[in-house]
Amino acid sequence: MNSLTAVCPGSFDPVTFGHLDIITRASHLFGKVIVVVASNGAKHCSFTPEERVNMIKKCITGLDNVEVAHYDGLLADYAAKRNATAIVKGLRAMSDFEYEFQMALANKKLNPNVETVFLTTASQNMYLSSSMVKQIASMGGDISSFVPDVIKGDIMNRIYQKNRKDS
Ligand code: PNS
Repeated sequence: MNSLTAVCPGSFDPVTFGHLDIITRASHLFGKVIVVVASNGAKHCSFTPEERVNMIKKCITGLDNVEVAHYDGLLADYAAKRNATAIVKGLRAMSDFEYEFQMALANKKLNPNVETVFLTTASQNMYLSSSMVKQIASMGGDISSFVPDVIKGDIMNRIYQKNRKDS
């Protein structure tokens, strides 16, 4: 295994099988992978950063070269701070591309030492997103195909119970 470090950033609100597939594959390519729960100004999250970090930690037991962190600032700065040479992102479809391409260019400008590496999402996860999981959970649907069992309870307790309280 090489000694390169990659950061794997996202909102992870909550982490899904799609994210976990990308994290696992990145862990086979890089010596160390740091999953970073970062802020996306355009999103209002249902879980606190600490809750999201804890859910990811529960799902990655067994991936010895993966750690999980929370960072509130610019991803480019965090990558520099952790001596990361790559930012790994999953690409689901062309609809992801423009936004991801823009972020990759901005991150390259902010930190010329870091390369963005895109991994194509596994075909069974093409349609999967955290917001879809939350929508299904809010209506009491079965989310077993989308997230690991170890975090199902955390998600249902927050999303389904909140929806019931609000209605
Ligand atoms: O899972 P998401 O919401 O698509 O992830 C987007 C995220 C959190 C990776 C992105 O918004 C980000 O990098 N936020 C950190 C702040 C930052 O560096 N913003 C400028 C990106 S060019």
